[in-house]
Amino acid sequence: MSRDTSHRVIVASRGGPEVLEYQAHEPAEPGPGEVRIRSEACGVSAYDPMLRQYAFPGAPKPPYTPGEDVVGVVDAVGDGVIAPVLGDRVAAWTFGDGDCYAEHVVVDAERTVSVPTELDAAEAVALVVNYLTAHAAMHAAAGVASGERALIHGAAGGVGSALVQLGVQAGLEMYGTASAHNHEIVRDLGAVPIDYRNEDFAVRIKELTGDGVDVVFDVIGGGRQLWRSSRCLRKGGRLLMLGMAAANRKGRGVIPGSLLVAGLVNAMPNGKRSPGMPSLDKYARENMDWYRSTITEMFELAATGKMRPLIADRVPLAEARRAHERMAAGGYAGKIVLMASD
Ligand SMILES: NC(=O)c1ccc[n+]([C@@H]2O[C@H](COP(=O)([O-])OP(=O)(O)OC[C@H]3O[C@@H](n4cnc5c(N)ncnc54)[C@H](OP(=O)(O)O)[C@@H]3O)[C@@H](O)[C@H]2O)c1
Repeated sequence: MSRDTSHRVIVASRGGPEVLEYQAHEPAEPGPGEVRIRSEACGVSAYDPMLRQYAFPGAPKPPYTPGEDVVGVVDAVGDGVIAPVLGDRVAAWTFGDGDCYAEHVVVDAERTVSVPTELDAAEAVALVVNYLTAHAAMHAAAGVASGERALIHGAAGGVGSALVQLGVQAGLEMYGTASAHNHEIVRDLGAVPIDYRNEDFAVRIKELTGDGVDVVFDVIGGGRQLWRSSRCLRKGGRLLMLGMAAANRKGRGVIPGSLLVAGLVNAMPNGKRSPGMPSLDKYARENMDWYRSTITEMFELAATGKMRPLIADRVPLAEARRAHERMAAGGYAGKIVLMASD
């Protein structure tokens, strides 16, 4: 591919999937300490439509290129970089800075991690930000112990399915909310499925467990949702608020209600608490060894067949708009991945 035929996707203005535009551009050269990756695949996260639609503190201003994780081959190296070298196959997370919906992505060399050749590009990219999030939530924030019980919301989604898979590794007894059509997937991953659309999950958890669970991982958010999640906890239980996927369907009004309930859970003298989830980019910046070793461990588990990320769909990069429409429609399981090359 010649330099001037490179393409990227931009969010041209705030709005629906129609604001995503696929454009030709000249890719940037890597600066000192940076490398450029010719992308094979990049991940789509539920956070991407939130940033596309809403202006909130920390959200990038259009025009910008979304996407946080990439897998590909190093095709240019900046001054002072010892590793990786030209031709190496690597993965990287851009620490929340976006720019990955593109055929070429420039990143700090120290953020790259080697990808085993036998690992499929879509599966490798699905193991980056979702599994880092799940790992930090499960170990750094919740401090789970083998034998504990956990409820995982959105258990067939990108982060949710990562949580269930890491929960199996950690020896947890798990329950997972999902639409009924995804129950077989949730069961196969290792959790008892609960149909959140047709059942009150808090009532169902009490029926299934008696006294509730030790930890709830909630990627959905919203005041009512989190309050019901807190009711699932037994004494000493922890409620982890990891995301607000509900904002994509109900709007950003879910944010204040979520923060209020997290505060209430901590204020009530009932032995339950809602520990803060560390900001993933800050946590990774301060723990680069953790960042690199966690991704490497995930790649090893996948390459040896011990763990397999769920891929909902592989969509050509040029059709990123369709990927966002698919996300808005729901009904998928796992991570939607944009394919930049075959
Ligand atoms: N804290 C961090 O660092 C971090 C990092 C990555 C992502 N996140 C956040 O995590 C959230 C999830 O991201 P994702 O990429 O995993 O999204 P995703 O793949 O779209 O998964 C969300 C899942 O939730 C299900 N769902 C929707 N409403 C539900 C409800 N009320 N109860 C139970 N399940 C429900 C959806 O399935 P159905 O088809 O069944 O509705 C879907 O499978 C987002 O808010 C994202 O911003 C946070």
